[in-house]
Amino acid sequence: RHEGGLSQDLAGRKVVVSAGGTREYLDPVRFLGNRSSGLQGVALARAAVTRGAEVTLVAANVALPDPAGVHVVRVETTAELRTEVLAAAAHADAVVMAAAPADFRPAAHSDSKIKKGDDGSAPPLELVQNPDILAELSRERALPGQVVVGFAAETGDATGSVLDHARAKLARKGCDLLVVNDVSQGKVFGSPDNEAVVLGSDGTTTSVPLGSKSVLAHVIWDRVASRWLSTAS
Ligand code: CTP
Ligand code: CA
Repeated sequence: RHEGGLSQDLAGRKVVVSAGGTREYLDPVRFLGNRSSGLQGVALARAAVTRGAEVTLVAANVALPDPAGVHVVRVETTAELRTEVLAAAAHADAVVMAAAPADFRPAAHSDSKIKKGDDGSAPPLELVQNPDILAELSRERALPGQVVVGFAAETGDATGSVLDHARAKLARKGCDLLVVNDVSQGKVFGSPDNEAVVLGSDGTTTSVPLGSKSVLAHVIWDRVASRWLSTAS
C-alpha cells in the first residue's frame, strides 16, 4: 500500500502540513535562517494526497516544486507561518508541524539596508523569542479530535538521552505525536533519508528505521489515522 498508494484511508480528511525553515529579516536583504530543506514536509504532503486527503502545505522558503494536488501557501517568517497554519488548522482534522520556525527574530527590523560605516565596529544584534505555533495549536484545538503532530531534532547530553528530552518536549508542547530525529551525528538536513521514533502522548513508541522520508511520512499518517480511530465517538 505504501508504494502503490492504492488505499484511500485518508479520504474525506483535511490535513495541514508545514515545511521548511523560516527567515527572520534584519533589513530588506538580510535574514537569520536555518538549514531545513522542506523535504520531509513535502513528503508528508505527497503521502497524504496519495491516500486521499485534502492537503494544505504551508511552505517556508522551500526550494522545491509544489507537490501535485496540494494547496500550497508560501511564507517566509515565523509570524507568517503562524498566521497561515492557524487559518488552515481551523478546518483541519490533523496538523503536522514539520517546519523549523526560527526560535528568535531580530528585535528591530530596518526598512533600509543596514550600512557598515568605516570605524570597524559591528552593530549589536538583539533578539526576541518567536511564538510557539505547535504549543498554541495543541492548546487551542480548533476542532474536537484534531490530531496535532510535532517534530523534534534532539541530541543526548549530560541531562538526558535523546528520548528523555523528546518525552519532556512532547509533554511541554501538549501535542499528540512527536516525531524525533537523533541529530547527534549531524545529517538529516537536506538528506533524502530519515530515521526516527514517533512518540505518542498515549505512551506509544514507534521506531522507524533509516529509510526514505516518504516511508517515514506514511508511518506518521498511519499513527495519525490510528489516533482518529481511538478518539472517535
Ligand atoms: N515549533 C513551533 N513554533 C516555534 C518553534 C518550534 O511550532 N516557534 C515546532 C516545530 O515545528 C516542531 C516542534 O515545535 O514541530 C519542536 O521544535 P523544536 O525546535 O524542537 O522545539 P523548541 O520548543 O523550539 O525547543 P528547542 O529549544 O529544543 O529548539
Ligand atoms: Ca527550536
